[in-house]
Amino acid sequence: MNFNINGETHQLEVDLRTSLLDLLRDHLGLTGSKKGCNQGACGACTVLVEGERINACLALAVQYQDRAIVTVEGLGGEPLHPLQQAFIDHDGFQCGYCTPGQLCSAVAMAEEVRRGLPSFVTADLSSDVMTLDHDELRERMSGNLCRCGAYNGIVDAIAETYAK
Ligand code: FES
Repeated sequence: MNFNINGETHQLEVDLRTSLLDLLRDHLGLTGSKKGCNQGACGACTVLVEGERINACLALAVQYQDRAIVTVEGLGGEPLHPLQQAFIDHDGFQCGYCTPGQLCSAVAMAEEVRRGLPSFVTADLSSDVMTLDHDELRERMSGNLCRCGAYNGIVDAIAETYAK
């Protein structure tokens, strides 16, 4: 099977029952995406598929052949993605376990807002992240849990990044 991960093509033989998360971590060594709950509840495994966020623990790798997948390793390195820098500047993490998922989710969330997609709860149709208050940003990021409780820093980092 062919997989397109962070702009590189990988040809791999994998069991049809392999999750996308296990493919990334165990077959490709991309351990940025984390396994928290492994049942779609925490968001630690969030990756981007053609710009949309998914929980990789719930996805079968076989379904994502030849799709453009981006993990936290593909977001930025040298230099850091602006959102990564903002997380540092605003203390948007403590232990860091949820951070890769938070970053991927926020990148997709900003694009959802830009495209005018409503949030699940409030049906807000704002077209600019900066028109969203922090409660709305939190709601749009509610699929990503932070057990350290760094939510204030996370939301500040997102708001600052997409205000530019
Ligand atoms: Fe996938 Fe928790 S590990 S949602």
